[in-house]
Amino acid sequence: MDFKESPQATLFYLHMLKLPGLIDPHVHLREPGAIHKEDWDSGTCAALAGGFTMLLAMPNTQPPILDGASLELALLAARGKARCDYAQFVGAGAGNADAAARLAPKAATLKMYLDQTYGELRLDDMSLWHAHFEMYPREFPIVVHAEGRNMAAAILFAAIYDRPVHVAHISLKEEILLIKAARQHGIKITCEVTPHHLFLTTPFPVLGEKEAGRTSRRMEVRPRLATQMDVDALWNNLDVIDCFATDHAPHTLAEKDSTNPPPGFPGLETALPLLLTAVDRRRLTVDDLIQKMVVNPRRIFGLPEQSETWIEIDEDAKYTIKAADLFTRCGWTPFEGWPVRGRLRRVVLRGVTAFEDGKILVKKGFGRNVRG
Ligand code: NCD
Ligand code: ZN
Ligand code: ZN
Repeated sequence: MDFKESPQATLFYLHMLKLPGLIDPHVHLREPGAIHKEDWDSGTCAALAGGFTMLLAMPNTQPPILDGASLELALLAARGKARCDYAQFVGAGAGNADAAARLAPKAATLKMYLDQTYGELRLDDMSLWHAHFEMYPREFPIVVHAEGRNMAAAILFAAIYDRPVHVAHISLKEEILLIKAARQHGIKITCEVTPHHLFLTTPFPVLGEKEAGRTSRRMEVRPRLATQMDVDALWNNLDVIDCFATDHAPHTLAEKDSTNPPPGFPGLETALPLLLTAVDRRRLTVDDLIQKMVVNPRRIFGLPEQSETWIEIDEDAKYTIKAADLFTRCGWTPFEGWPVRGRLRRVVLRGVTAFEDGKILVKKGFGRNVRG
C-alpha cells in the first residue's frame, strides 16, 4: 500500500485497520541529562509501541539544546540509540538567535518557552523574542509554549513578522477561539492538542494516588488540566486542531510524588488507544486521526515521507491501560486502569517490522535523523 497520493486507512481482514506511521511533533526524551526518566532508547521504544514511527524531540534537556555543541550531544545519543525516526528541536535562548538560525537545516525547528515550565529554557522579556522571529528561517514554524495571554502575544508576533507559528499543547477555550479568529484574519497559526487535555479535567485523581494519601501531585502538568468547559471547547472545535501531540513528558513516580513534583505526563503509548476508543464512540473519525497524526504534522514541519511505513491495529481488541506494560522508563501513567478499544499489533518502518505483538524488533540505532 502506497500512501503517497492520498494517505488513507485501509480495512483488511477481520477488523484490522492499517494506517500510515504516526508522527509525534512533541516528545521529551530527557537525554542528555536525565536518563533515569527516559533516554533515546526507552523513549523511541515507547514511540514504536504507541504507533509512532517519527518523533520530534524537545530541547529542554540538561544541558538545553542551544548551540551546535549541545545539538551534537543530543544527536550523538540519538544516532546510537534511536529505534524510530526523529529530529531534534533547538531552543530559543537570550543570546542565540543567530546560532539557532544557522542550525535550522539540522533541527526539527525552533522552540520558544514563553511560560514557566520544566527546565531552565524561558524567554520572559518580550524584547528577546524579536531576534528569533526575525532570524529563524521562515520555511519552518516557530513552536511556542505560550499559555493564555502569552499565546495572544505570540500570535501578534506571528502577524508582525508574517511568519508561521505553531502553538504547542493548547488547553483552554479562550486559546482555541483566539486561534480560530487569528486564522480567519490570515495569520499563520497552527496548533496541537494533547490527549490528556482532551480526556482529563481538573481536579483529577490519578489511580493509586489517593491510596498514597495525595490527590494533586501527579496531576501537575503544564499547561494545567483545564475545566470541562475548556475540554468541551476543544472537542467542539476539532477542525481548528491541526495536530494531536502527546507532549510525552516522563518523570519518575518518586519525583511525581515528592513535595515539589515536576510537571508532565508520559503519553506516547496511551495516545493511540485513547483516540481509537474515541473513534469507537463516534467522537472523531479515523480520517481525523490520519490528518492530525500524519498529514498535518508532516506538512507543518516539512517532514519527509517514510516509504513502506505503516501500522496495523486490531480494532476490536479491548484491554486496560497498565503502566507495567509500558516501555517508558518513568513507570506510571495518568491513564492507569482505563479501558480502551483498539490494540496496535504491528509497526512496519521503512519495510522492516519494528514492533509486533508487544515486542520491539529493531535494534538501537535503526532510527534515522530526518534532518540528517
Ligand atoms: C514538560 C517537561 O516535563 O519537559 N512538562 C509539561 O508539564 N508539559 C515541559 C513542557 O512541555 O512544557
Ligand atoms: Zn510546554
Ligand atoms: Zn512539552
